[in-house]
Amino acid sequence: MKKRDFLKTSAALASTALFPNSLFALTKDNKRLRTAHVGVGGMGAADLASISSHALVDVVALCDVDSKNLDAAKALHPGAKTYTDYRTLLTEMREDIDAVVVSTPDHTHAPVSMMAMKMDKPVYCQKPLTHFVSEAREMRKIAEEKNLVTQMGIQVHSFYDYKLATLLIQSGIIGKVHTVRAWSPKNWGYDGPEPKGEDLVPEHLDWDLWLGTSPERPYKETVYHPGNWRKLVDYGCGTLGDMGVHIFDTPYNALALDVPLTITNNCRKPNGFGFPENNNVTYTFPGTNFTDDTLTWIWSDGPGAPKKHKDLKLPKKDKLPLQGAMFIGEKGRLLLPHFMELPRLIIDGEYKEIDVSAFDPYNSLGNSKNDYERDAPKHYHQFVDACLGTDKASAPFSYSARLTETILLGVIAGRFPKKTLHWDNEKTRFKEEEANAFLSGNYRSF
Ligand SMILES: NC(=O)c1ccc[n+]([C@@H]2O[C@H](COP(=O)([O-])OP(=O)(O)OC[C@H]3O[C@@H](n4cnc5c(N)ncnc54)[C@H](O)[C@@H]3O)[C@@H](O)[C@H]2O)c1
Repeated sequence: MKKRDFLKTSAALASTALFPNSLFALTKDNKRLRTAHVGVGGMGAADLASISSHALVDVVALCDVDSKNLDAAKALHPGAKTYTDYRTLLTEMREDIDAVVVSTPDHTHAPVSMMAMKMDKPVYCQKPLTHFVSEAREMRKIAEEKNLVTQMGIQVHSFYDYKLATLLIQSGIIGKVHTVRAWSPKNWGYDGPEPKGEDLVPEHLDWDLWLGTSPERPYKETVYHPGNWRKLVDYGCGTLGDMGVHIFDTPYNALALDVPLTITNNCRKPNGFGFPENNNVTYTFPGTNFTDDTLTWIWSDGPGAPKKHKDLKLPKKDKLPLQGAMFIGEKGRLLLPHFMELPRLIIDGEYKEIDVSAFDPYNSLGNSKNDYERDAPKHYHQFVDACLGTDKASAPFSYSARLTETILLGVIAGRFPKKTLHWDNEKTRFKEEEANAFLSGNYRSF
């Protein structure tokens, strides 16, 4: 698509886009948003700070299964009611909350979000949106049926570098893209055995509520809570789900991709407990306006990732950024480091200057100087403003559920190392019957 056509299309889309149900009617007397926060330690504390930094937000409810984290959040928001069980919060405060922020480990995202959405509440949910493909489909369906404001917690989605990379790719700076390579050397996998025995559950933690809908398991210090649950198949989504979702986001969005056709994960054999420490996942996607007839996507993670490859060789013997994505097109390559660095154009093995003004003549992308503290709240404030009817969320579940599904298909492929799985988007099933068992899970009653 030519640059001028792209700009026209974008403007037309922006002007005709339908805004989801806002809470404007509900809050018109005072135009404020009453928020409930589920999971207020770790990233939840940052989410709480960013949402509550919006001048029109009142934090009215806090929930955490760890009383230390709950107490710390309560100290900052003394007027908020506190809960240990999100079900009690949502049931008791149904009429007194306008929106819900979900910042729990991945296995709890869907149970909390779905309960809130069924009560017609807009939801800001951390990434990846869900733990299972079936949940991602369900969340998207409910959000669309109810026309709710939703946003997934990929805050860098609203950053300058990512918006610029999207504009450049969609304007054809490297022509049609045939391959994307993306990588992170982070290690949210675990190749060891399941630890034996059981530790005393600390008094400040409700372990049964932490497990929630996931299988019963004895408590072990430092293995699950906090944070390390990401490495384990019953609770997290490995490095692909953790970092992949951020790093995939821009290429996925820029190339207007839908879910993939095939997925192959070259990793160690599954052990039923931890995710592999190294994943090399190859996806093929159906072509779009911005790609060849098909697009190949290669993800690598874990220590040592990515392996050397000519596609990743930089001019001047420069070192590859620690994490990032490389778009490879018919005219050249575009490197997008993760994160807070400008995209770099490489043509015929040399860096080329990017004249941003030629692509963004009216400076619609805003301030190009990166500042995380300044920019991170944008994504949250956009959600609040969308709830109040004055903006539109940029990572709604209609988008982020598809991105999450793509990520989760790569995670499932890790159960069948080196085997190519074929995904049927319409039927929401793999051709390989044995893989379908991992699309959903049984919820435990708790
Ligand atoms: N967007 C980002 O940049 C970013 C960064 C880090 C984490 N995350 C996401 O945030 C989420 C949380 O990650 P984390 O690193 O903060 O994990 P964490 O384990 O450090 O913190 C999770 C918090 O939720 C609480 N919690 C757990 N189960 C709960 C339940 N059932 N009800 C209420 N509270 C519960 C825990 O006690 C803790 O306070 C994950 O989905 C993760 O992927 C996003």
